[in-house]
This record gives sequence, structure tokens and C-alpha cells, in this order.
Amino acid sequence: MSRITKAALVVAATLALMAIGAAVFIGLGIYDIGADDHHTRIVLAVITQLRERSIAVRSSSIAVPDLEDGSRLAGGAGHYAALCVGCHLAPGTTKSDLRPGLYPHPPNLAQEEVLDARRAFWTIKHGIKMSAMPAWGKSLNDEALWDIVSFVRKMPAMTPEQYQALLQPHAG
Ligand code: HEC
Repeated sequence: MSRITKAALVVAATLALMAIGAAVFIGLGIYDIGADDHHTRIVLAVITQLRERSIAVRSSSIAVPDLEDGSRLAGGAGHYAALCVGCHLAPGTTKSDLRPGLYPHPPNLAQEEVLDARRAFWTIKHGIKMSAMPAWGKSLNDEALWDIVSFVRKMPAMTPEQYQALLQPHAG
């Protein structure tokens, strides 16, 4: 047998063993899929990197409309109050029954640093697989999503009173 044939056989045997190992791991139900069982450090590091790179590549060329003029805030706050608070909290809302059981844990967007607009838009529109973050692009149009992005970027600097004022019917 040539050295190349031997090497190829070793690679093939290793791959076959890995496939069998994976099948046994899955078949015996060794993996705990429960949300109260957390990832190991290495798995978490790989998933984090996977999420960061996936979002960075997909969001880099998104054209950002004017988010600063304030006209989007009331609409964004209204959607946020209806759809997001249970998971991401808000000024004056510091806990919810939903959050403790979620893994990955949703960030507290009322305390987060100002989010990058492109990344936030992409994430809100498409959601994040295998997490509780929904793809809101299935139910809201891009204008409504940009309203939310505009609001979410301003929220960390808002007091509970300013937030409540935006939710009044006459706001905006
Ligand atoms: C059922 C829970 C849930 C709801 C409802 C939800 N999210 Fe999320 N969201 C998550 C989770 C969990 C993550 C983190 C996912 C991860 O780390 O992989 C997340 C991540 C995000 C991020 C990324 C934050 C960052 O630091 O990059 C943004 C932005 C976001 N959500 C906005 C929203 C908005 C806006 C709404 C409402 C329109 C919303 N989410 C509704 C669970 C939720």
C-alpha cells in the first residue's frame, strides 16, 4: 500500500468513527436540550463567534435611513412596549417572569450600550436561530422595524417618565 493510500484509509476510518460517535451521542440522548442546562464554555464561545460573524457579514451593507429626527420614537416605543418588554425590559421595568427561564439570556436593552443600527435592524428583522429572539420581519415592515431601531438606540438614556410619555396616544 502506498503512503497516500494508507493516509487516506486513516482519514476515512477516523471520519467513520466520528460519525458513529456522533450517532451514538444523539441516539442515546446524552445531550441535555433543556434550557436550564447551560452550554460548556467552548460551545458557548463557538456559538457566540458564529452569531457575531453571521450578523456582521449580513448587516454590513444595509442602508440606514435617518433615525435621529424623533418622529420614529413614538411608533417604535409602541411596538417595543407591545412586543419586546417581557424579554428585554424597559425604563422602569426591571424584571419579568419570562426572562429568568430564557437561555440564551436576552440582553436588558434598557441598559445596553447604544446598539449599532445595522446590526440591530438585521437582528430584529431576522431573529436569531436556536434562541428565543423572533424574526419580526415576518410581521412588521421595514419602516416599523426602523422605528423600533431608532427607539431602542435612544432607550438607555430615557427615564421611565420619558418612556411612558412616548406611549401616550398623542405622542409623536
Ligand atoms: C421571547 C423573548 C424575546 C422577545 C419577545 C424579543 N427578543 Fe430580542 N432577543 C431575545 C434573545 C434571547 C436574544 C439574545 C440571543 C442570543 O444571544 O443569541 C435577543 C437579542 C436581541 C437583540 C440583539 C442585542 C445585541 O446586543 O446585539 C436585539 C437588538 C433584540 N433582541 C431586539 C428585540 C426587539 C426590538 C424585540 C421586539 C420587537 C425583541 N427583541 C423581542 C429574546 C427576545
